[in-house]
Amino acid sequence: MTVLIKGVRLYGEGDPVDVRIADGQIAEIGPGIGSEDAEVIEAAGQIMLPGFVDLHTHLREPGREYAEDIETGSAAAALGGYTAVFAMANTDPVADSPVVTDHVWRRGQQVGLVDVHPVGAVTVGLEGKQLTEMGLMAAGAGQVRMFSDDGICVHDPLIMRRALEYASGLGVLIAQHAEEPRLTVGAVAHEGPNAAKLGLAGWPRSAEESIVARDAILARDARARVHICHASTAGTVELLKWAKAQGILITAEVTPHHLLLDDGRLSSYDGRNRVNPPLREASDVQALRQALADGVIDCVATDHAPHAEQEKCCEFANARPGMLGLQTALSVIVATMVAPGLLSWRDVARVMSEAPAAIVGLPDQGRPLEVGEPANLTVVDPDATWTVTGSKLASRSDNTPFESMELPATVTLTMLRGKVTAREGRSPAGRSEATRGSATA
Ligand code: DOR
Ligand code: ZN
Repeated sequence: MTVLIKGVRLYGEGDPVDVRIADGQIAEIGPGIGSEDAEVIEAAGQIMLPGFVDLHTHLREPGREYAEDIETGSAAAALGGYTAVFAMANTDPVADSPVVTDHVWRRGQQVGLVDVHPVGAVTVGLEGKQLTEMGLMAAGAGQVRMFSDDGICVHDPLIMRRALEYASGLGVLIAQHAEEPRLTVGAVAHEGPNAAKLGLAGWPRSAEESIVARDAILARDARARVHICHASTAGTVELLKWAKAQGILITAEVTPHHLLLDDGRLSSYDGRNRVNPPLREASDVQALRQALADGVIDCVATDHAPHAEQEKCCEFANARPGMLGLQTALSVIVATMVAPGLLSWRDVARVMSEAPAAIVGLPDQGRPLEVGEPANLTVVDPDATWTVTGSKLASRSDNTPFESMELPATVTLTMLRGKVTAREGRSPAGRSEATRGSATA
């Protein structure tokens, strides 16, 4: 089937063009392409970007399908403009063998809305004691290329050292949830004046920064690559600068919620604001924005973490940490980075697609918008606004921290290998025929 997308600006630059998609590829780009036999999508005033790649998603399958599964999570991803996501290993059972990682890959392909790449666990059962058979998972159907105990830190330095050495030999990536667990016992919020006033046990910045520093040094000596999940503090930014200046092979991601929200929100005691690492202070938010603009932080990753209502609507300290992110990511990046002039649309393509694809070495994602390239792409209306309503998102859970916020920009079309996976807020799968709230053009 041929699709003709009319009047888009590639990367938000230059004159509007038409883009013809045939046989899963970009077949033609230019002004005034004829529409014989093609399904025509009018996209005047809109921007085409390569499909987004999320290195950090929790899809909860297997084990907690009441909160999310691969089908509902894939719908949320497609609606958010994603064509590939990495599903974290903290499932039940844990994704620590090819039995689980192969299932995740195959189920994602069956659903067919987004490539769901399984992340393998670094240690058996996420227990931090024994390395998994990374080689078997890498060689399995899921072709695992990233390993992480995310949710938990690989805190034993000897285990982390061995993991980096082993991963380096296999050509795979270790992604670290940087949290020194001895410094976060009982912690539910950022350690600072706000948590102190509210009587919430604090999670100091040093819990993150001490592990980032340690792992940078371990990676240096192992000549291995290490990726830092959800960087959240100004100090982590300084450490990344230092490590990169030394030539250490370190990369890092930041979440949309850490770019928009700070711990001033905690006073409501609303469990939707609980997340690991916690929302930090406004000064951290500023440092993270600047680091993403400067390339010190390489990419955006959502840490999409669905939880059921009963797991969030309870005492703050008992609420499970985590926030939905897939369907709101682009809009939050536009609000925090594009609108203030910190990133151009060209840069959005870099931090949401090209850089994450390069970090994990995905050959068919984050590709240039050129003839002959695979049609993994997203079209964005930069002038639309919408109001976030958790119950209307495609996820099985509602736990967005952006409830009732009006955000800029909507995803109007997502294509995976030339197939439409989301259009005008609708996707072929998901909890409902999800709509994008009150999207207005
Ligand atoms: O807030 C979080 N939720 N942080 C994590 O590291 C794990 C995640 C989850 O699995 O819910
Ligand atoms: Zn994490």
